[in-house]
Amino acid sequence: MKVIVTGGTGYIGSHTAAALLQRGHQVLIIDNLSNSNARALEGIAAIGGSKPEFIEADVRDAAAHAAAFVRFAADAVIHFAGLKSVAESMLHPLRYYDCNVTGTITLLRAMLAHNVRSLVFSSSATVYGSSAKVPILETAAIAPVNPYGQSKAMVETILTNLAASEADWHIACLRYFNPAGAHPGGLLGEDPRGTPNNLMPYVTQVAGGRHEKLSIFGNDWPTPDGTGVRDYVHVVDLAEAHLCALDKLDDIDGLVIANIGTGRGHSVLEVVRAYEQVCGKALPVEFAPRRAGDVAESYCAPGLAEKLFGWRARCGLEDMCRDAWGREQLTTED
Ligand code: NAD
Ligand code: UFG
Repeated sequence: MKVIVTGGTGYIGSHTAAALLQRGHQVLIIDNLSNSNARALEGIAAIGGSKPEFIEADVRDAAAHAAAFVRFAADAVIHFAGLKSVAESMLHPLRYYDCNVTGTITLLRAMLAHNVRSLVFSSSATVYGSSAKVPILETAAIAPVNPYGQSKAMVETILTNLAASEADWHIACLRYFNPAGAHPGGLLGEDPRGTPNNLMPYVTQVAGGRHEKLSIFGNDWPTPDGTGVRDYVHVVDLAEAHLCALDKLDDIDGLVIANIGTGRGHSVLEVVRAYEQVCGKALPVEFAPRRAGDVAESYCAPGLAEKLFGWRARCGLEDMCRDAWGREQLTTED
């Protein structure tokens, strides 16, 4: 297949682009490099065995899409491009709605114009908000509590309406839980700009000596050890979910929405202990107050993705820690 991958130099997009190439697909990446580096193209080519095509452009740029769809007769699109920081979205909501919603509409217009009706979209568990019961099923209420989550929920609504408007659409919305880890060889990984907000990259940087200690946000949550529980999913498994969804898209009439996670929750302390095992040293931690907007537990019921796409996660927490640590060691050697 010929697949356009927006946001394909980013964390999840780069792993997916590499997996697509490995599987013999052709890939055109559209990315404005606002949160990634063109160096990722080298890692993608090294893993994938061939080079992706690349256009440096914004997903809100209709002319760039027109040029891309003419140059590359795509069969399908995987849409990763977007902004993803909850905190930043609260400070700059318009930036988030513009990039995530307007960007998607611009892309969809180009798909319509060029008769491409197959799409895999990066949604997020953040659409469930804070009151969903674990394990979270896709039927749980949509109740996002920040502009980032709202923007994902809006796009899901737009895609649902579009799929209902004519018969030809084949759309899979994947609601990722907590992506973590890196490519096992260390050629690709998560390289957040500035200080990371998320647990796994922060722990990685503590292990790498880039921060003195990890602050654990709350030890009084109603969880077995008092720290927050999340469903961490290896980024290589996550990339594979896109390939499985793509394989089954033709069987999908309209739109489907599926959780992408392992179905297992791990606490912050479990993540720290697992990381200590793989990096072979004790990691300094301190307990700090709860972070605003956090929930005690979030993990999914992953069965629908298996039913629809034949996908389920294979890697565990230790694999995620080991591969994140491997990548950190390569990065800090540079
Ligand atoms: P990322 O920031 O590493 O990748 C996003 C890519 O999109 C980057 O390469 C960035 O340069 C590009 N981009 C951003 N705005 C753009 C624009 N206007 N035009 C063109 N390119 C643009 O993030 P990621 O973790 O790989 O996330 C990919 C997708 O998955 C995002 O849509 C995100 O919301 C979603 N998601 C991520 C997580 C997570 O925790 N990582 C969880 C759930 C959902
Ligand atoms: N945590 C700490 N210290 C840190 C960072 C995180 O204790 O320095 C804790 C959090 O309190 C939480 C857990 O580690 O209990 C995981 O936090 P993350 O920030 O890694 O992940 P979240 O589940 O809070 O959020 C992530 C993405 C959101 C997305 C959500 C659901 O950042 O964008 O998953 O997909 F909405």
